[in-house]
Amino acid sequence: MSKRPEMFLPDQWPAYFSKAKGCECWDLDGRHYYDMTTNGIGACLLGFADPDVSEAVKRCIDDGSMCTLNPPEEVELADMLCDIHPWASQARFTRTGGETGAVAVRIARATTKRSLIAVCGYHGWQDWYLAANLGDTEALNGHLLPGLSPDGVPRELKGTTLTFKYNDQQQFADIIARYGDRLAAVVMEPCRYHDPQEGFLQFVSDQTHKCGALLIFDEITIGWRLCFGGSHLKLGVNPDIAFFAKALGNGHPIGAVIGTKGAMDGAHHSFISSTYWTESVGPVAALATLKKMRTIDVPRHVAAIGDAVMELWRKFGAKHRLNISTDGCPCLAHFKFEDLHADELSTAYTQLMLDRGFLAKTILYPTMAHTDETIKLYGKAIDEVFGILSQALVTGQISSLLKGPLAHKGFARLN
Ligand SMILES: Cc1ncc(COP(=O)(O)O)c(C=O)c1O
Repeated sequence: MSKRPEMFLPDQWPAYFSKAKGCECWDLDGRHYYDMTTNGIGACLLGFADPDVSEAVKRCIDDGSMCTLNPPEEVELADMLCDIHPWASQARFTRTGGETGAVAVRIARATTKRSLIAVCGYHGWQDWYLAANLGDTEALNGHLLPGLSPDGVPRELKGTTLTFKYNDQQQFADIIARYGDRLAAVVMEPCRYHDPQEGFLQFVSDQTHKCGALLIFDEITIGWRLCFGGSHLKLGVNPDIAFFAKALGNGHPIGAVIGTKGAMDGAHHSFISSTYWTESVGPVAALATLKKMRTIDVPRHVAAIGDAVMELWRKFGAKHRLNISTDGCPCLAHFKFEDLHADELSTAYTQLMLDRGFLAKTILYPTMAHTDETIKLYGKAIDEVFGILSQALVTGQISSLLKGPLAHKGFARLN
């Protein structure tokens, strides 16, 4: 969904790439762009085709990345993840984010011998998660992606996944009171765009454990970005299980579930296995990524880039009298046009930025590859584009600026 051209600029977005390097990419016609959007849906925190990660992966491919025997790198990766997260002592590896969450949930259900899951946040496309939208298709609205359709998810799963809102202590307490004795786990992003309110995570942790359930943190997007390791290391509350993907392999598929010995018990008696979870590229890429991230302060850099970009949006918004609000932690920076014509303005912004050689939307996932120079070029383009948008608003011409339909929002069917 996140790469569909209609999400950016229907009929005009380049859609396919021929090359990607750092924060730059080239489309099939060889046109060059700076990526000021998600940089591979948040997967490439070090930048596209990071030379150190690529070198390790190429070496691994030359040596054979699949064998009847196991890759030793997964042992080293397990040790490294447990060193970084000293509360954890066991690890399981997958290759994609959604399946990593599904494995974590399976383990929790096997360990607790219970079925119900409470969720807060987005956790992927699998049945266990989308079951929340069975019966009430709006249950997951407010959890990053609204309108996710549960078509194809067995209706018998209705009522197995319950949602609660971030920072809503009362709603969470109500779930515990009503379903606590049947709850296997609470799955949540420890934070995404905002820090938790004082005491919220600790409250969730205490209540979860009091009713015998496991606390699972989804670190797929915020992990490594907010701090080295899971964001929970910074927020000061440890889960029983945490799972990672995306930035862990910097563009190469690898997912990890880590947990305490007790919480991971279910992994030993449930059937959880897949052929390609034993290839070598994933763990090799993850080791190269983590070893590099350990030597440079990625969170500091991406926060500084995000801060600088938010400042540009505000500065040029004010200069051109566009009503703009910025939000989110700088490592996942975004802004909004506070205007009746917000949808037209956002689409026109993407269109005009594309003309200037930028993949741009109202959200940026900064990477190590974004530099002061990128920010300077981006700022110049924002100044021009905001000037055009402002003029069009004044003259009532905003719709006629658009060369195609409005960008889609959230999950929608293609006709
Ligand atoms: C917090 C979170 N969990 C899970 C997922 C699903 O990961 P994937 O898209 O790799 O399946 C995502 C993807 O955006 C995510 O942001």
